[in-house]
Amino acid sequence: MNPFVIYGAGCQGVALLRLLAQSPSSPSVHCFIDSHPAKQGQTLDGCPVYAPDYLLELREKDPRVAVAAGGHYSVIRRLLEKLGFEENTHFYDATPRPLKYGETIPEFSELHDQVRRHTLLSEDRLGILYQLACQANHVPGDAVEVGVYKGGTALLMATALKNSTQQIHLFDTFCGMPAAKPDVDLHRAGDFSDTTAESVSSLLQNFNNIHLHPGLFPDSLPRDWHNHRFSLVHIDVDIFSSTLACCRYFYPRLNPGGVMVIDDYGFPSCPGVRKAVDEYFNNCDQRPLYLPTGQALIYQCQPNACNCHKP
Ligand SMILES: C[S@@+](CC[C@H](N)C(=O)[O-])C[C@H]1O[C@@H](n2cnc3c(N)ncnc32)[C@H](O)[C@@H]1O
Repeated sequence: MNPFVIYGAGCQGVALLRLLAQSPSSPSVHCFIDSHPAKQGQTLDGCPVYAPDYLLELREKDPRVAVAAGGHYSVIRRLLEKLGFEENTHFYDATPRPLKYGETIPEFSELHDQVRRHTLLSEDRLGILYQLACQANHVPGDAVEVGVYKGGTALLMATALKNSTQQIHLFDTFCGMPAAKPDVDLHRAGDFSDTTAESVSSLLQNFNNIHLHPGLFPDSLPRDWHNHRFSLVHIDVDIFSSTLACCRYFYPRLNPGGVMVIDDYGFPSCPGVRKAVDEYFNNCDQRPLYLPTGQALIYQCQPNACNCHKP
């Protein structure tokens, strides 16, 4: 049997040892390896800690090395490769990762299975949007999406809001992207034209609170929306002019506790989105909260729109 070794005798390595000990089918751990001299020669939960040179002695027994050393993985990978070990054959990154949202919430996992065929968004971004839509149940105002395409994120929002009285307004040309600014945007007019308002309507036929607004935003805004206020606004329009128009219209009309989610803020494929958001919130006391998913969130924490952005 190949000896099983944990590289990293810090808290992550010890946590891995204890996790493996809980499962009878896991290999028993032969030793820890750590480059820190103070750790070498110790035992942790009865398991000895050796210097990296010890791996050379183990080489002929063809060891398997689980690296549990957080941000040091790339340094350790280089060292192991120098010793002749191959990534994913002899060693792998076993640094503990947080659970994905779907692994903790079974209802989201099922919904993700329904939605993923109709959306461009990755599971982590859908998880964020779903949680925000669930919170929006408790905030007065309607929900909005600008940038619907085939309706995947709209289906997600509608499901999260299914028990509320909120209306859900969906804005899109439903025939592709409008003209973009070639000096700022990478998308071109006509991208995402393989959809129709009818197909989105059919996808959402089980919901009775859906309103489609086909056409170019903001021209497609209903004329009688004088005092409309919003709980949740999902902006997924990919280009500068559309993003700026959405910020200008919706941010001042968010109810307290409401949130605006801007997709693609951190993606190099949509540089115009970040430019528009930064330009709009420049010099404002509200700053977008940037998430590692690439989305940006703007909460309305104040009882009234801030002084710089009045409706
Ligand atoms: C990336 S797609 C949306 C993806 C969708 N949320 C999903 O779940 O996959 C971008 C959409 O924004 C729409 N769009 C961009 N600017 C627009 C504007 N000013 N008015 C209406 N629709 C717009 C495009 O037609 C396109 O369908």
